[in-house]
Amino acid sequence: MSRKPSDDNQNTLSRRNFMGAVVTAGAGAAAGGLILPESARAEVLFPKDRSEFGAGGAANPGGPYRSENDLYDCEVEGTLPKDLDGTWFRVGPDPQYPKPAKYEHDIMFDGEGHIGAFRIKDGHVDFRSRYARTQRWKAQHAARRSLFGMYRNPTTDDPSVNGLSRGTANTQIFFHHGKLLAMKEDSPPVAMNPVTLETTDDYYTFNGGLLGLTHTAHPKRDSETGEYIAFGYEAKGLATPDVFVFSADKTGHVNWHAWIKVPYASMIHDFAVTQKHVVFYVCPLATNMSLINGTLPQFNGPGPHFAWDSTLPTWFGVMRRGGDGKDLRWFKGPGYMCTHVMGCWSDGDKVTVDMDGGESNQFPFFPQLHEKFDPMKGAGHVMRFTVDLKNKRQTTYNIEKMYPDVVGALSRQDDRYHTVPYRYGFLLSSDPADGSRWAMFDHSKRSVNFFGLGRDASLAEMTFVPRKKGAAEADGYLIGVASYHKEGGRSDVVLVDTQHLDAGPVATIHLPYRLAPQIHGFWVDGGDLPG
Ligand SMILES: [Fe+2]
Repeated sequence: MSRKPSDDNQNTLSRRNFMGAVVTAGAGAAAGGLILPESARAEVLFPKDRSEFGAGGAANPGGPYRSENDLYDCEVEGTLPKDLDGTWFRVGPDPQYPKPAKYEHDIMFDGEGHIGAFRIKDGHVDFRSRYARTQRWKAQHAARRSLFGMYRNPTTDDPSVNGLSRGTANTQIFFHHGKLLAMKEDSPPVAMNPVTLETTDDYYTFNGGLLGLTHTAHPKRDSETGEYIAFGYEAKGLATPDVFVFSADKTGHVNWHAWIKVPYASMIHDFAVTQKHVVFYVCPLATNMSLINGTLPQFNGPGPHFAWDSTLPTWFGVMRRGGDGKDLRWFKGPGYMCTHVMGCWSDGDKVTVDMDGGESNQFPFFPQLHEKFDPMKGAGHVMRFTVDLKNKRQTTYNIEKMYPDVVGALSRQDDRYHTVPYRYGFLLSSDPADGSRWAMFDHSKRSVNFFGLGRDASLAEMTFVPRKKGAAEADGYLIGVASYHKEGGRSDVVLVDTQHLDAGPVATIHLPYRLAPQIHGFWVDGGDLPG
């Protein structure tokens, strides 16, 4: 919940206001004595304590980035495969402006989406990064200050932005029907040019086919037809239990949709799509208007949209693809929290979904309604969920912890296997002795291999890159960012052969600076890119 500024904060604020006035005055002088309107006199100075900064600064390795960059022909150690042709995109929350003091403890997820693109071809790589020009970014850019209050809480916004999209486009990017879509799950996607990173549509609705107000950050591509399948939760407004689910053909034309309701409004960060079914996992990171309005007695003011309510069960909902949603069937389970789908498939009426998750809340930055946060219970493992729709009396789902000794989050797979049986999965893992590692699972053998660079390097989520068109499942490379604490967070991008994780990187792209924070990444084959 929002916290009252302490006396220390107020003292600090006074000092920062003074500094901000100096900065503003300096900018005015530099602009030839331009007199700024009162609304533009806000400070542009981020808190010194990056871990406390509420607009993205807590993201590893911390601090806002804010610099849009172009770097032609990056330095490469090792050898980029000559036949590797494509662009690796990454995105994360990068605060555009500091928030007012009363919101500076807001969570990192509320930074503006900053997209990075590594264009790899002929053994060379060029880097470009740009903010998504969301409606929010443009309004704040014009005003030279933060206008949107707390994470997913429009009751805290400046009145001047009423009616604008709050979307930050900071969570994941996806390429389909020639469009690079940058996504945040509280709003429609933003469309961008995949080469220039120019924003081409700040409110993309699939030519009006997206009927809900929201769109997930984790759409899927049908492994056989190439269709795009997505959904949006809270699709009829804040804290509503309504979900809009749809598919679009290769041209982006919406060719199926359905409206459903979930048992209660909560964070539905990802979903599972098989050849036959769509699966939603509803967990107790819940929301309601009392929380958003700040009328819950245990909190002081408006909340950051979600709170963990351990009294709620989880629900595993399965519906038929292509139907009207009336067949949706809910299976009940304990209060787990799962965020990302590793892989899934349908075998007749039996549905299997693998997700990373823990036995309680995994996001300590959201408040707990009933007990203290327990990091042990929140530790993530690869969990296998199964239901058999043929059994009409089954009311619960089955859970298996697949690899009890491996802890991690942000599970991925070879994206060509989104909707069909799969064998290999990936996880950003952590180990007390070895630090962050990329884990590669072979489910057929129940075995796991790791890649890591030791405790001095912090790895972000990886993306799988096929070795070539038609390569076997998971035959290729893992690509992702390594950041070095002892170098002020300076970043490399490493490329590792999935057949030889133990051999270290095939190539290391050295950046001369720290990269912007990242949540997810996405690979686009060069043959699919324009130009
Ligand atoms: Fe995600």
